[in-house]
Amino acid sequence: MEVKTSLLDNMIGVGDMVLLEPLTEDSFIENLRNRFDHNEIYTYIGSVVISMNPYRSLPIFTPEKVEEYRNRNFYELSPHIYALADEAYRSLRDQDKDQCILITGESGAGKTEASKLVMSYVAAVCGKGQEVNKVKEQLLQSNPVLEAFGNAKTVRNDNSSRFGKYMDIEFDFKGDPVGGVISNYLLEKSRVVKQPRGERNFHIFYQLLSGASDDTLRKLKLDRDFSKYNYLSLDSANVNGLDDAANFRTVRNAMQIVGFMEDEVQSVLELVAAVLKLGNIEFKPESRSNGYDESRVKDKNDLKEMCELLGIEQSVLERAFSYRTVEAKLEKVSTTLNVSQAYYARDALAKNLYSRLFSWLVTRINESIKAQSKTRHKVMGVLDIYGFEIFEDNSFEQFIINYCNEKLQQIFIELTLREEQEEYIREDIEWTNIEYFNNAVICDLIENNQNGILAMLDEECLRPGTVTDITFLDKLNTVCAEHQHFESRLSKNSKFLTDHSLPHSCFRIQHYAGKVLYRVEGFMDKNNDLLYRDLSQAMYKANHKLIKQLFPEGNPAKVNLKRPPTAGFQFKHSVGTLMRNLQTKNPNYIRCVKPNDKKAPRIFTDSLVRHQVAYLGLMENVRVRRAGYAYRQAYEPCLERYKMLCKQTWPHWKGPTREGVEVLMADLQVSTEEFAYGNSKIFIRNPRTLFSLEEKRRGCLENLAALIQKIYRGWKCRTHFLLLKRSQVVVAAWYRRYAQQKKYTQIKSATIMVQSYSRGWKARKILRELKHQKRCEEAATTIAAYWHGTQVRREYRKFFRANAGRKIYSFIMQRLMQKYFLGLKRDLPSMSPIGGSWPTRPYRFLDTAHTELRSIFHHWRCKKYRSRFTDERKAVFEEKLQASEIFKDKKALYPSSVGQPFRGDYLEISKNPKYQKLSSAMDEKVLLADMVNKINRANGKGTARIFLLTKNNFVLADQKTGQVKASVPLPDLASISVSTQNDGFFALKLKEGSAGATKGDFLLSSEHLIEIITKLRRTGATAVNHNHLDIDISDEFLVQFKQDKVCVKFVQGAPKNGNGASCKRKNNRLLEVSVPSTA
Ligand SMILES: Nc1ncnc2c1ncn2[C@@H]1O[C@H](COP(=O)(O)OP(=O)(O)O)[C@@H](O)[C@H]1O
Ligand SMILES: [Mg+2]
Repeated sequence: MEVKTSLLDNMIGVGDMVLLEPLTEDSFIENLRNRFDHNEIYTYIGSVVISMNPYRSLPIFTPEKVEEYRNRNFYELSPHIYALADEAYRSLRDQDKDQCILITGESGAGKTEASKLVMSYVAAVCGKGQEVNKVKEQLLQSNPVLEAFGNAKTVRNDNSSRFGKYMDIEFDFKGDPVGGVISNYLLEKSRVVKQPRGERNFHIFYQLLSGASDDTLRKLKLDRDFSKYNYLSLDSANVNGLDDAANFRTVRNAMQIVGFMEDEVQSVLELVAAVLKLGNIEFKPESRSNGYDESRVKDKNDLKEMCELLGIEQSVLERAFSYRTVEAKLEKVSTTLNVSQAYYARDALAKNLYSRLFSWLVTRINESIKAQSKTRHKVMGVLDIYGFEIFEDNSFEQFIINYCNEKLQQIFIELTLREEQEEYIREDIEWTNIEYFNNAVICDLIENNQNGILAMLDEECLRPGTVTDITFLDKLNTVCAEHQHFESRLSKNSKFLTDHSLPHSCFRIQHYAGKVLYRVEGFMDKNNDLLYRDLSQAMYKANHKLIKQLFPEGNPAKVNLKRPPTAGFQFKHSVGTLMRNLQTKNPNYIRCVKPNDKKAPRIFTDSLVRHQVAYLGLMENVRVRRAGYAYRQAYEPCLERYKMLCKQTWPHWKGPTREGVEVLMADLQVSTEEFAYGNSKIFIRNPRTLFSLEEKRRGCLENLAALIQKIYRGWKCRTHFLLLKRSQVVVAAWYRRYAQQKKYTQIKSATIMVQSYSRGWKARKILRELKHQKRCEEAATTIAAYWHGTQVRREYRKFFRANAGRKIYSFIMQRLMQKYFLGLKRDLPSMSPIGGSWPTRPYRFLDTAHTELRSIFHHWRCKKYRSRFTDERKAVFEEKLQASEIFKDKKALYPSSVGQPFRGDYLEISKNPKYQKLSSAMDEKVLLADMVNKINRANGKGTARIFLLTKNNFVLADQKTGQVKASVPLPDLASISVSTQNDGFFALKLKEGSAGATKGDFLLSSEHLIEIITKLRRTGATAVNHNHLDIDISDEFLVQFKQDKVCVKFVQGAPKNGNGASCKRKNNRLLEVSVPSTA
């Protein structure tokens, strides 16, 4: 909801002077001061804005402020210049009413700043877009350019506008700016050549010298030093808080934005430089023959430089400073100029140069900012004209300026009153006349065509004969003496004859803003604004485009003998045009007030403000405004604001607003004289009535606030309670639901449990039966299946492929084995037990069988072989076997015996008759009979003996006789000793104590040693229980001969022919047998 605010809210003092109560000058000033002290620099008088210059920057011109005031009603927010600008802009845009903003006030009161604020506000709130922004920018940037050339520091204002400015800003139907036109009024050109004490020349001179680059200055033939220029006052060349150099850059930049070409800027600067140079030209008198002095340029250097700058022929200008040509009726008369005339001419040229340059600048800017389309535009005019001025020394300029202000005051009075009057008529309210000072008489005094001061001045200027400022004053004295606002010492009005504050050379005018004393000196001159034709022609001849343009009257082809219009005339004319222009527009007033003379913040000089309030007619303004009714307000906001004061209108009024207000007023019992009903507004006569309404409203607002609070609190509590209650119900419902749910689930689960048990029991019972039944069926089926299976398998086994492999395998195996065995049978090796060959095995899997078969075969053929043996042969082999057991690898003789069969009876004892006797002596079968050598123990020589072996004895018998020499039972034989060598010696050792042992052991040698010893052993072993007969094989053994023991030692002898071991007795104890080596 939009919050409706009002000017009346949070007021400091009163925001609108109309509401001031009581209305006196003192209360008025006090209200201004009160507001000023609280930084409220703006105050209204109805729709007029009073603006106090704060002389410091306040935070009330921010973009946020712009937004705040945008599209708000005038009285809605606290007074502000933005409110006025907004109002003006909106009625221009929405109601198609051309507007003008009239800013008045004395010098330094803040007019120029106010005009810029208005322009910037409008620029901020109007439409946006590339083209529009460019226009806005150009309009805004025209200010710095004009200020540089048209403003100067004065004692009242560091940035005082020395020209009047009216700017029309043109808008299209949408309210977007499309261009503008600037009019300028009377530049104070006397300042160019002379400035009052403490003041400066126009800013641009200082800016150029401080801010231009060295290069630029060189081109302009200038020096940075201010003191080098006569036209620049030095005592305040540098102003605090004014950065000339920076401002110069701003100006250059602004010129560029506005659309000045680079060469145009250059030309302008050249002209500025030329003015400075001109000031430095000095003259000296030169006596002439006719007794008159003639002026001559003193130092031609400056002249030369200036001429170079402007492209003027030096001699032409020089001549123009010495002679003056007067043309009258086709006659040309040339007179010389004296020094003071030359100075006058110089200064006139400088002033003209500068003021024409200024006018050209305005024209040039206008060219740039001119609206492009020709259609009708809505216009907002901003008037920032120099304020009312009262100096110590007031001259023609002040007169003109003050005249202008009179005119503005006039228009102000006219328009405000007319406006007021129109409103009353519009609203159908009875109009009551009000007393106020109308300055029309003063305007008349000045501008009256017959006897106005300006008219007199012109008359005097045109009058032939000697005319001076004094003659002009005389004229005034005669013509205006009767006027009540004109004062002069010499007037017929004797009143002033003794007034010493009024010098003789002066006249005084009682302006609406106070009395001003004008010194007549220079009035004529300034009004004439004369520039010798020689000078303008010299300028026209210049080879400089801009200069030529500025002095068109110098064109010799257009010699115009008519006098140019006087300055006063021109001004009056332009002011007239301006006034007519303003009258067609809707006026908006900003009345600037200066709080102090020190240009200082926070100082409020009572008397100064009082003076301004008086001459600005602000009190009258308020009075006029209040004459009928002090306060007026449209019905709707009024009803909105006060409707709470009456039951019928509160809170809403349903009918038309006017009726609502009527009901309201009736209810409040406001006396009927105190207000009147207009067509759209209510008019309140006395501010007191309004304030009492406000008072009531405030009281009511408090009650309403309490009521609202009460209702709100009640509502809040109740809502809270209802919420609690609703919540409680919800909680209870949820809880119940939860409890029931829980109970239900318990019952349900219990039921399910019981049900499931019972179902389980039943089911299990059925299951058991079914299982049993099933098992029976299964058993029967299984049995049947097995039976059928067996049957079928039996029947079909042969067809089973699974057996085929095995079958084929066994068949093949059979075949292989058959083949193997048959092959083996065919290739059987020899039956000889010693045959080593055996066929190779054909298959590896037969490996073991093959080996096994080989060994079986071998055993079998050995068995076969053995089975062919007779007992005798068997015995022979047994003997041979035994021989091998005894001697193999022990005795060297053995290998040779292997091949010899054991014949046993080599002597054929029983057949040979020779041995008949011996044979018969033997009662036992002779197992062996052979010839041996018995070694003689004495010499080792052998004696042949027959050796017989029977089952129980061995016998030694004489070879020739057969006589038994010794018979030894086998059990008496203890052991047999032989050598390891290839000899036939052997010793038969007897057991000690046996019968045969008396003769001692036998040392024998035989060719059949192996056989003898083998048989001895076999027989000895079987015959007696003599299972072990030791056979000792070694190359050294002891033999028991009778008593002695002799050692028999076998040595290797030299090989000998034939059989050859020989035995020799070496000593008693040693018999050495030498055995030839077999090698
Ligand atoms: N609204 C304002 N805020 C701050 N300073 C201001 C304001 N108005 C004026 N001034 C100060 O006062 C000086 C004079 O104002 P200016 O507008 O030039 O006066 P005028 O045009 O009436 O002679 C300015 O240079 C500025 O310093
Ligand atoms: Mg100004």
